[in-house]
Amino acid sequence: MNHLLKMLDLSKEEIIELLNLADQLKYEKANNIPHPHLAGKTLAMIFEKSSTRTRVSFEVGMYQLGGHPLFLSSNDLQMGRGEPIQDTARVLSRYCDGIMIRTFGHSIVEELAEHSSVPVINGLTDFSHPCQIFADLLTIREYKGSFEGLKVCFIGDPNNMANSLIVGALKLGMRFSLASPEGYTLHPEIAAFVADYPDAFEQTTDVLQAAKEADVVITDVWASMGDEGEAEERKKAFANYQINNQVMEVADADAIVLHCLPAHREEEITAEVFEKYADVIFDEAENRLHAQKAILVKLMAPSVLEI
Ligand code: CP
Ligand code: NVA
Repeated sequence: MNHLLKMLDLSKEEIIELLNLADQLKYEKANNIPHPHLAGKTLAMIFEKSSTRTRVSFEVGMYQLGGHPLFLSSNDLQMGRGEPIQDTARVLSRYCDGIMIRTFGHSIVEELAEHSSVPVINGLTDFSHPCQIFADLLTIREYKGSFEGLKVCFIGDPNNMANSLIVGALKLGMRFSLASPEGYTLHPEIAAFVADYPDAFEQTTDVLQAAKEADVVITDVWASMGDEGEAEERKKAFANYQINNQVMEVADADAIVLHCLPAHREEEITAEVFEKYADVIFDEAENRLHAQKAILVKLMAPSVLEI
């Protein structure tokens, strides 16, 4: 594993190894056991979109690992004025030990990785959000003990979050039900992937069918960053695609609710359900930190894992 670009690139074993490492780093942090695996190393963090969790968890994670993060807004970089990605990749590779990027088109991350001689981490593209999925999987394992046989239900837009969750869940032996409105179809790469899981994946327009007996119920915003121009149209299309009491009544009695945040109360989730499951949702947010640290160690100090 040289980069982390999308869940499709990872094997089940690689996913589990990263989750176990995240658990170990979480334990070390909780018990004040120093873990300066990235001492003297620097991570460049390019942001072309807003962020709270991704920026702060990577920044704090680098600090806790003894390394140094650099926040680079694309507004300030020459990249924002048209410097080619391939030149940015080659320059940053000469200064830094890793590059994290949040951007729009997934091809930008792929191009950065192609021309970078240091590991590249996808901090969210329009297509995928693998860093978030590791936090979600950690949280599911903490609450449910294991993955095999669980039913995950995602209600809403088949977006970067859904794309990544579908792949992560199916690779780990979970079943996946996606409820989304007519016309909001799967990305072709994800459609090709789920074709190999005919018994474990379904897409439906029926929210209650998707949520029936689900162990994990997840949603995300109706309009992602970059979709702002479609916000009004999407409000209409997704009006019934909400996690509310009715949905939770048909889910398993011990179901948990996840949300990557930021949440829009009374849109994709009611304020009441959000607050009822706030503990798990904020555990999920905290797990971004532990997951990020595992990704950083795996990519930037892999020899740590051989000890
Ligand atoms: N969930 C997530 O990626 O949050 P940010 O957009 O705040 O980084
Ligand atoms: N789907 C959302 C996720 C934000 C963390 C977006 O891309 O804006």
